[in-house]
Amino acid sequence: MQGSSHRPLAGRTVLITGGSRGLGAATARRLAGMGAEVVVTYRQRAEEAEAVVEACRTLTAGARAEQLDLLEEDSVRALFERLQAAGTELDVVIANAAATAFKPLLELKLHQIDKTFAISVRHFLLLAQLAFPLLEPRGGRIIAVSGADTVGYIPGHGLLAAAKSSMETLVRYLACELGPLGVTAVGVLPGYIDTESIRLMAGPYHEKLQAAEELTHPLRHAASPEDASEAVALLCLDEARWLNGQIVNNDGGGLFAYMGRFGHAWAMVPDAAVGTAPPDTTDAPMLQRTDPPTR
Ligand SMILES: NC(=O)c1ccc[n+]([C@@H]2O[C@H](COP(=O)([O-])OP(=O)(O)OC[C@H]3O[C@@H](n4cnc5c(N)ncnc54)[C@H](OP(=O)(O)O)[C@@H]3O)[C@@H](O)[C@H]2O)c1
Repeated sequence: MQGSSHRPLAGRTVLITGGSRGLGAATARRLAGMGAEVVVTYRQRAEEAEAVVEACRTLTAGARAEQLDLLEEDSVRALFERLQAAGTELDVVIANAAATAFKPLLELKLHQIDKTFAISVRHFLLLAQLAFPLLEPRGGRIIAVSGADTVGYIPGHGLLAAAKSSMETLVRYLACELGPLGVTAVGVLPGYIDTESIRLMAGPYHEKLQAAEELTHPLRHAASPEDASEAVALLCLDEARWLNGQIVNNDGGGLFAYMGRFGHAWAMVPDAAVGTAPPDTTDAPMLQRTDPPTR
């Protein structure tokens, strides 16, 4: 388990579910750049997964794609049978894939509840159980990707938030149960990331959502998958071992800043909505400006 500082993950093997696009793909590319051999899984988009793998191979040899449908127990079992048969050992498993129905709770169908919980709870735990024998010889780590909807209300996210909250609880229990056996578990909790799923969720409001991030996020930026992959990669390092059992925010300070960002939200309400003439906001103390303060 030695690696150079430039390629600190040299000799490591990392499995990333949902690596064909979004955060999973960006994480795979970043980890390959740090020296890791990556195994990316996809559900349907084999070509996109292959393109990710090609990019990873230019950075570190051995990258490969595997089909995995987390809705199907057999598919999870079959993946680990293939890995076992190939003699694969794992240093890190990143449970990143997710899918849900973004709807108000009263509109949800039972099959949507079952599917969301199958991916993020039932088969997340099965994945952890089946991955454990491959992780144990290397003192490996399970990283679970949660989301901001477990800490604050996001319209249409109640179901996914419920599943991800359960996943976070499983991470804490895995940390306690597997820690004595040398395997650690940690959760990572991103805020906004500009991916296909958030574009689907926000629909026609995506541009406004993105603009709101750029105007009000503490870093004045709408996070890309590459931005969000930075902290996920940090959690793969040996030095993150003492984060065992933690759910680590990966939001650039955006979540803590939400109450403060309220100060920008009112400024973005169109004047017509409150029926007043455009106000003079020059001296509005709540409007935090981006230009440097004058002394
Ligand atoms: N985007 C955000 O703003 C945001 C914020 C907080 C947390 N997160 C979390 O970050 C993670 C990645 O999100 P993302 O936005 O990058 O996702 P995404 O762009 O929607 O990509 C989803 C990935 O999961 C795979 N997938 C979908 N259904 C699957 C299934 N049934 N079994 C196995 N794999 C499946 C997809 O494979 P195919 O390409 O083959 O379909 C794809 O690789 C998720 O856990 C999400 O909840 C995202």
